[in-house]
Amino acid sequence: MDSGRSGPATLILLSLVAGWSQGLEILSAPENVQAGDGDSVMLPCQFRVTNADIGPLDIEWSRTPTNLVDSPLIIIDYSGDRVYETQLEDMKGRVHFSSSDPKTGDASLNITRLKSTDSGRYHCKVKKSPGSKTISIKLSVLVRPSKPMCSVEGSQEIGKDVILKCSSEGTPPITYFWTREGSSMPSTAVADITQGTLKVKNATEAYSGNYKCVARNQIDSSQCFAKLAITSSSNNAGRTAGIVIAVLLFLLILAIIIWCLFWRKKKKTYEKEQSYEIREDVPAPKSRVSTARSYTVDSQRSSLGSMSPSNIEPYKTHYDRLATDDLERLPNHSPNINPSFKVAAPSLNRMGAVPVMIPAQHRDGSIV
Ligand SMILES: *[C@@H]1O[C@H](CO)[C@@H](O)[C@H](O)[C@H]1NC(C)=O
Ligand SMILES: *[C@@H]1O[C@H](CO)[C@@H](O)[C@H](O)[C@H]1NC(C)=O
Repeated sequence: MDSGRSGPATLILLSLVAGWSQGLEILSAPENVQAGDGDSVMLPCQFRVTNADIGPLDIEWSRTPTNLVDSPLIIIDYSGDRVYETQLEDMKGRVHFSSSDPKTGDASLNITRLKSTDSGRYHCKVKKSPGSKTISIKLSVLVRPSKPMCSVEGSQEIGKDVILKCSSEGTPPITYFWTREGSSMPSTAVADITQGTLKVKNATEAYSGNYKCVARNQIDSSQCFAKLAITSSSNNAGRTAGIVIAVLLFLLILAIIIWCLFWRKKKKTYEKEQSYEIREDVPAPKSRVSTARSYTVDSQRSSLGSMSPSNIEPYKTHYDRLATDDLERLPNHSPNINPSFKVAAPSLNRMGAVPVMIPAQHRDGSIV
């Protein structure tokens, strides 16, 4: 029991002594490093070994995972005189030792083409038994301000208030600075550097001109321009009249187009009617059973009067053919209605009533 307990205790004591006795040292490095996206950065980790450190040299860079639950991710490793590149898909080809020969005392890490996801806490651990030291550096990758959007709000009229707006994306805080190109700022202008607005009250024509907005954060800046054109309201009245006239002209042209379309459609409909009349001379297709039900004497009688003998003549030949065809076919399909039809057909024929229904049915296409 006693020896079991004293083992670890002795080890701790030994390592404490090693620390005191100026064993392996890592030179002091900044705790925080900032860089812009797309930039390269060097995380310094220079070390010094002593004669007491006799083991093999081992250098390891790791990064605390953002979720703080998983074990640290190994970025790059140097052991047995060999460099083991990163296995992190996200960082492949972008992390290297700064020195071509880290064992000479420079374990600094270079990261190129920085992404905002590279932000995090990096650890440089140098081990040469019994010496072992670790330092941590917090890397913050800052996103440059995007090209801002400049805009003007409010009516640009004399005596009115107008607001120039500017907004950009990037790592906060972003501050906005408005300046006027080639002239001093209007006396009534009030700027809000965090919102990016420039309020110009009681505008006068003299305020017209180009204004520049610079959006800036810790690492970079970007700019845009807005043009202010303050006009008198009488000018505006002229412009409004112009717009009204343009709209009226447009409506007039629209009316003409609609009228033309309407007229053409009407003409087409007329031509269609004409074509229907021509088609009445086409031999009538054979009747189906369902339409045969409408062969009632009553429906024909009503239109009898409108037929003059000269009109009837061509239809009679149709009917003669039709009637025989239908009468031959009907019994197979609908024996029920057949008897009445048989009686009706000849009598209708005598009355000269039949022809009317042929063109009528033909027209709505219920036959075929
Ligand atoms: C690492 O970065 C430093 C500073 O940015 C640079 O001087 C050095 O050449 C880089 N080393 C490599 C191997 O890219
Ligand atoms: C606006 O400006 C004009 C002259 O530029 C001045 O006479 C007038 O009093 C101003 N109006 C207000 C409300 O400040």
